[in-house]
Formats: sequence, structure tokens, C-alpha cells
Amino acid sequence: MATIDINKEIIWDPKFETGIQRIDLEHKIFLELFNSYRIAIIQKKNQFELNKIINVIEKYAEFHFTSEEAFMAQVNYPGIENHQHLHFDLLEKLNIAKHKVDNSIEFLQFAYEWFAHHTTHEDRSISTFVNKNNIQTNYQLNI
Ligand SMILES: [Fe+2]
Repeated sequence: MATIDINKEIIWDPKFETGIQRIDLEHKIFLELFNSYRIAIIQKKNQFELNKIINVIEKYAEFHFTSEEAFMAQVNYPGIENHQHLHFDLLEKLNIAKHKVDNSIEFLQFAYEWFAHHTTHEDRSISTFVNKNNIQTNYQLNI
């Protein structure tokens, strides 16, 4: 997994692409949030300020997972139950990292890998299912 260079913008990697517009759009927001955190580190913001961004990442993750689960239910994705467990584990891992990781760059590296691993592995299965079954997904805002 790529090592984060604090001075470089964290950019979208084509390998994150699921091809499902709504999911990709929401995933891109994670990168925005990671960059906000990265910039806050460069600007030497204090821990209180950094924690505020971590809280946004956490809340956003909760929203995104709920949204992704709604999408999976909508397309009758058979792996939904397992995927819900994965989301639960991801929130738990994020919470543990928030308390345990002892420097900000380390947290950013963790968060990026946390995102990249789930996106390129587990979320990929949703798009494989959608493509295999020719499911129309351009009603992405219709929850
Ligand atoms: Fe997911």
C-alpha cells in the first residue's frame, strides 16, 4: 500500500473505482476528508482541531456505510449481511486507531489503508455482482 507523503495531495486511484456512481461519489468524499486532515497536520493544527476532523471522518463513515447498505438492499446483493459485518468491524477499527495511534501522520496512513483495502477488495464484489446481473445503477440517489 502506498505510503502517504504528507506534502502531496491524496488523489483518487483508478483501482478504487467500482463503476457504481453513487458509491464512487461517496468514496471520493473520504479522500477530501483525508486531505483536510493532511492539510491540518501541515498547518500544525492542535490535537483538538485534528480530532474534529477525525470525528467528521467517523461520522461520514457511518453515513456512507448506511448508504452503501441501502444500495446493496436495493439491488438484492446476496452478500449484504457479511458486508454489514465488515462495515461494523471497520468502524470499530477506526475507533481503536483514533485512540491508539500516537501520531497524526500514522493515523492518516492508517485511515488511507483502511479505506483503500475495503474499497479495492470488499466493495469490488458489489460491482462484480451488479455487472454480472446487468443491474441498472444510475438511480443512485433514489434511496
Ligand atoms: Fe463497503
